[in-house]
Amino acid sequence: MRARRSCLAVPGSNPRFIEKAQGLAADEIFLDLEDSVAPGAKEDARKNVVGALREGDWTGKTVVVRVNDLTTQWTYRDVIEIVEAAGDRLDCVMLPKVQDASHVVWLATLLDQIERAAGLPEGGIGIEAQIENAAGLVNVDAIAASSPRLETLVFGPADFMASIGMRTLVVGEQPPGYGEGDAYHYILMRILMAARAHGLQAIDGPYLQIRDVDGLRRVARRSAALGFDGKWVLHPGQVDVVNEVFSPSQRDYDHAELILDAYEYYTTVEKRGAVMLGDEMIDEASRKMALVVAAKGRAAGLARTAAFTPPSST
Ligand code: GLV
Ligand code: MG
Repeated sequence: MRARRSCLAVPGSNPRFIEKAQGLAADEIFLDLEDSVAPGAKEDARKNVVGALREGDWTGKTVVVRVNDLTTQWTYRDVIEIVEAAGDRLDCVMLPKVQDASHVVWLATLLDQIERAAGLPEGGIGIEAQIENAAGLVNVDAIAASSPRLETLVFGPADFMASIGMRTLVVGEQPPGYGEGDAYHYILMRILMAARAHGLQAIDGPYLQIRDVDGLRRVARRSAALGFDGKWVLHPGQVDVVNEVFSPSQRDYDHAELILDAYEYYTTVEKRGAVMLGDEMIDEASRKMALVVAAKGRAAGLARTAAFTPPSST
């Protein structure tokens, strides 16, 4: 699994932002050819993106290009030009406004052909699918099952809110008049279930009030608490908060590693399945939960500060 706590959107038409992005601590950078690039700038943006992939230093980052959606005239050329010229530098292609499985299958087939023609490892380039309208959500299970190339489902709140007619212009915030509850809960859970049922990551979309760091933290914590793996960021000032929110705390990380060690010791050395770790009863289900937290902590670069000591055998 690639790290995707923070996924930074960088307009493909802006060389200055592309340059700056290389020094930021975002786990994923996606160079955008879609909504942050004006129609008249699409072709130049492709060239910028190829140049940035070829010459930039993206070490340690998940590198993605977002192409235009399949209702436009640009998608096929986006994919062909980028992957032919720089496919060896690319981790994934992100496809926006996915409405059904056929969109992903189309992209996977095109990638099959380009990889073969260009001598790239077959199946090497992954796909990120954005769910950002009612049709996409209704078909999300089939979309999640559509290709082994698929790595993640990504919620696109701005387009989604427009698609369903939600009565607010403030992306990620509750629509006035809704009262108690979270207007996004069903959408987030639906995407998360489909992702998990098919072994994919689930990524939350952007928070557009880029100066409101407290608002960002509040909204990010909501999807992190449900189980999402990361969230988009649109500005360098959003990266640290999102990395922090989507990393487990040191305490939870240490605890998870202790559960794994203790469970391993008791099941293999003492051959017992349900055991006590301090005051806590742990079993196979605890091990599964601990594995998730430990994996997120390791991916976030956390180091253990507590070790498991087996009980003395007196
Ligand atoms: C992202 O693409 C969004 O529409 O929110
Ligand atoms: Mg969108």
